[in-house]
Amino acid sequence: MSAASFPESFVWGVSTSAFQIEGATTAGGRGPSIWDGFSADRAEACDHYHRHTEDVRLMKDLGIAAYRFSVSWARVIPDGCGKVNAAGLDFYDRLVDELIAAGITPYATLYHWDLPQALEDRGGWPVRDTAHHFADYAAIVHERLGDRVGTWFTVNEPWVAAFLGYGSGIHAPGRTSTADAFRSAHHMLLAHGLGVQALRAAGASEVGAALNISPVLTPAQVSDFDRELTEEDAEAVARIDALVNRQFLDPMLRGAYPTDLVPLIERHAGLGHVHDGDLDVIAAPTDLLGVNYYSPLVVQAQPSEPADPAFPGSEGVLFCTVPTAVTAMGWPIVPACLSQLLGRLSREYPQTELMITENGADFVDVATGDSIHDLERISFIEEHLRALRTAIDDGANVRGYLVWTLLDNLEWSDGYQRKFGLVHVDFATQRRRPKDSARWYRDVIARNGLPE
Ligand code: NOJ
Repeated sequence: MSAASFPESFVWGVSTSAFQIEGATTAGGRGPSIWDGFSADRAEACDHYHRHTEDVRLMKDLGIAAYRFSVSWARVIPDGCGKVNAAGLDFYDRLVDELIAAGITPYATLYHWDLPQALEDRGGWPVRDTAHHFADYAAIVHERLGDRVGTWFTVNEPWVAAFLGYGSGIHAPGRTSTADAFRSAHHMLLAHGLGVQALRAAGASEVGAALNISPVLTPAQVSDFDRELTEEDAEAVARIDALVNRQFLDPMLRGAYPTDLVPLIERHAGLGHVHDGDLDVIAAPTDLLGVNYYSPLVVQAQPSEPADPAFPGSEGVLFCTVPTAVTAMGWPIVPACLSQLLGRLSREYPQTELMITENGADFVDVATGDSIHDLERISFIEEHLRALRTAIDDGANVRGYLVWTLLDNLEWSDGYQRKFGLVHVDFATQRRRPKDSARWYRDVIARNGLPE
């Protein structure tokens, strides 16, 4: 294998999510979701619900081998539980058929943040029943698609959904209770475990979750990973790591909450929501772990610092800016963190096969005539692929890499101004135009590697 090539079986693809691209929020019997009215921008998104055939063709032209999409729970079960909407299942059925006809392997995510509003009205994720409703929904989707979809992700980035949705309120449903954030996180873990059991019982070949995993570093460590930390900084780094990463990794892959996190959960939420036996369910064996990596979290200890409102549980921790290049979101670009992260996961959870289920960036693209130039996105992806290749050389077991994302789309609370796509979308006309990065990625896929 040359320095720039990837293992023969390496899987190349893209990821999307239902709410961010489908639009058609009232079409085909779909029920409302918590996101429909939350973002200031209207939720027409990329109208993928009506344009999926064109979008599958775009992917085929790029040589995409795997497509990770999410199923909208409210499209399939408008009230979140109870009556199933056949038209909703029909949509995903057609999509999966088209993907397979185009030679693209479908990877389905069951929860990418768009909770049916009816379940939020009954209490949402802080309520335990939501996890059970999720497992019923998982079984229903599997029953229809399981003959063609082999790989299932239960929940996507539960830290974001729980802590931004119920803690800081930056995301839907916009609630601001740290206690509810911890309870939601636990119920999303439980939903994962019950979902894994339901999918396995239905005969699913492969199941896992997709987690946002961010290396946590002090400013000095950004340029020198091995830099020694003061005791206070080590505590700050460990706490943020426990909150964002280990709160999900350890229950799922080791069957226990991190011991250093338990007192924090107890202080904010009590432990009454964690029932006997839950952790055994949550740790139901999985086949792969989806890793969504964008950037590190850079922190240091600051005892007088109040909790960052965007980050419940972060008392005494200062979030730092560092003198590195950043994306248009302001997220530091540190590709070496991807190697470090994959090395860590391989060491700490050695049985787990990994897949990069999201990596990509928001940049301001440059249009000249009909072309869309996005050199920064190309460099971002190229540098991360080099870092990924280094991790594979060092022994990390990584099945594949999915770019976030195929299309410019609705970036949650940030709306349409954020551009993460390989393909530009004109939201007035819904015209799609592959950017330079799309052609570049097509060539990477075709040669199974980077330019030498
Ligand atoms: C991760 C989320 O899963 C995805 O929905 C989002 O658009 C990207 N991060 C970029 O913020």
